[in-house]
Amino acid sequence: MNLSAEQIQSNWEKMLGYINAYISDPRREKLIEFYKKHEEEIMLMPASHKKAYHNSFPGGYVDHVNRVIEGALATNKIWVEFGAEQNYTVEELVFSALNHDLGKLGEEDNYAHIPSQDEWRKKNLGEMYQFNDSIAFMSVPERSIKLLVDNDIKLTKNEWLAIRLHDGLYDPANEPYLKSFMPELKPRTSLIYIVHQADLMAARIEFEKEWLPKFGKKESKVKNFKVTKNKTDLKSKALGTIKSEGLKNMLDSL
Ligand SMILES: [Fe+2]
Repeated sequence: MNLSAEQIQSNWEKMLGYINAYISDPRREKLIEFYKKHEEEIMLMPASHKKAYHNSFPGGYVDHVNRVIEGALATNKIWVEFGAEQNYTVEELVFSALNHDLGKLGEEDNYAHIPSQDEWRKKNLGEMYQFNDSIAFMSVPERSIKLLVDNDIKLTKNEWLAIRLHDGLYDPANEPYLKSFMPELKPRTSLIYIVHQADLMAARIEFEKEWLPKFGKKESKVKNFKVTKNKTDLKSKALGTIKSEGLKNMLDSL
């Protein structure tokens, strides 16, 4: 799947719109400053480096994040309708959804995604991006929190836990929080489950969009690894504000 330059641009503006609409000052101001500082990288980065995962295309990250924010707001309504206690705020809900995967950016002066130059790995393994292995290992949720803290963007306890645990039991490191049978050790907020559900739903839908149509065809998967269908479109004036030559060339190199 590909997004046009116009879609990439409008997804970016939509994400900034969610910050302005749901986050109160001074965090709103600090978040806008942070996201603008890394605008060209975040706007274009994928949600994952491999086609086999989800949204591994330019603009895939913001597309995913917007889906998680919208999914979290919709999922919240269901939880409320079924009687869940509102032991979190809507600002905490949107803040957690917005920043849950922020760690995928990498380090502020050393980004994580490098468009792959390895034609064989792109064609045969669907590895459209290389992970920047000069960055020390840290889990995505923990790096998300670190980036926020480093930029003096404070998190509430609910937000810290929702971001830290957003992979649910897919990450065994979360078991002490999520597998306890002792009431006093169970999470005190449903926010954790709502953000996890929204993320799970978004990633599954992104997988379906990318892969299910292909399983109906008899073409080899190799043919389906084509990423850029309309390069002219992707390089249209909507991306004209991007300064980095490297990023401008990224769409060509995929
Ligand atoms: Fe996610």
